[in-house]
Amino acid sequence: MNFEFSSRVPKSDSDPVGDILKVAGKPGIISFAGGLPAPELFPIAGVKKAAEEVMDEDGAAALQYGSAKGVGKLIDTVVQRSKRDGVVTDADHVMISTGSQQAIDLTGKMFVDPGDTVIIERPTYLCAVDVFRSYGAHFVGVDMDDDGMRMDQLEQAIIDNPNTKVIYTVPNFQNPTGRTMSVERRKQMVQIAEKYNVMILEDNPYGAIRFTGENIPAVKSFDKTGHVIYMSTFSKILAPGIRVGWIVAGPQLIKKFTFMKQSADVHTDNFVQFVVAKFFAENDVEAHIKKISAMYVKRKDVMINAMKKYFPSDVKFSNPDGGMFLWVEVPGDVNTQAMFDECIKNNVAFVPGEPFYANNAPSGRFRLNFSNTPEDQIEIGIKRLASAIRKFQEVNA
Ligand SMILES: Cc1ncc(COP(=O)(O)O)c(C=O)c1O
Repeated sequence: MNFEFSSRVPKSDSDPVGDILKVAGKPGIISFAGGLPAPELFPIAGVKKAAEEVMDEDGAAALQYGSAKGVGKLIDTVVQRSKRDGVVTDADHVMISTGSQQAIDLTGKMFVDPGDTVIIERPTYLCAVDVFRSYGAHFVGVDMDDDGMRMDQLEQAIIDNPNTKVIYTVPNFQNPTGRTMSVERRKQMVQIAEKYNVMILEDNPYGAIRFTGENIPAVKSFDKTGHVIYMSTFSKILAPGIRVGWIVAGPQLIKKFTFMKQSADVHTDNFVQFVVAKFFAENDVEAHIKKISAMYVKRKDVMINAMKKYFPSDVKFSNPDGGMFLWVEVPGDVNTQAMFDECIKNNVAFVPGEPFYANNAPSGRFRLNFSNTPEDQIEIGIKRLASAIRKFQEVNA
């Protein structure tokens, strides 16, 4: 059947990333591909207890339709949590979303008309690219260095593209590079957004999972004029299956977000919002996050040490202070998609770099996830990866 889809629907049925994750998930493969938290640390007993108590205490309200803005108790939890990022806020500035993915989608819906420019980091979170693409965005990528997005390029990109609507950034332990934006750049980014009246979408799913160093204030903490939409999620600190995130923005924007959300999904699962609020009230969540960070930093260190030992010396990789990912750059014209196919034969997987760029992807880049693989498997996987890199470098020599 020849369906008459809207322009938002991709023409092709190909789903390269879905295919990669499907292959990578096969039994026997050591997968550094997916962005999955460690399931060993899901707080199953605590969530179960909270769920039972919600049913006993608030059962009817939890099972009834609720408000699109979110459950009051959970909004209060978010207001409290926001303080650790220097985001001073109150209930009028918060909306609960169905994961932060929905917050990205609603931002696209609210600010991007076909042809509008969205500025992204090069590389960036690939599902954000998919969202903005579905609203017809014109993408401009800004390069990053170890301090995050380059502000000289950002300002020039806005000057060159006066129809810029949104700057999308993942400032902490970015997906895919693991890089963190410096305080100075955060301040500059806000100044640039104010000067050119452009919105910043600050996506912070990983900031709480810090291994070393001091917590850096959110971009939002420098925002005096309401140009920053901040969003985060319970996916990485509790569990991604619960699908609960949040937005912090000015009350005028929160009203618009709430209106748009209502037509998207009425509201985020009421029962689950009650459960998350209860879980936070009854558990030492900071201690739980420390446990997650302690496990991930060990896994990351094993990965870094193995890469130092086995990778060719000209291969560069990031060494993040937190989060779940690191980024590898192989010099020369190495096709990492072809390398992926070779690696699958040797039972190891990663995500090739191309999907993390909206256009003009450089060769030789790929992302590794360290949160989801037990330590004893990491060295074996990296060793296999190292022989694939050497093989591909030889082919290109
Ligand atoms: C940068 C970034 N933003 C948003 C998301 C979506 O998270 P959520 O589970 O809250 O929808 C992810 C998930 O991996 C992510 O890496």
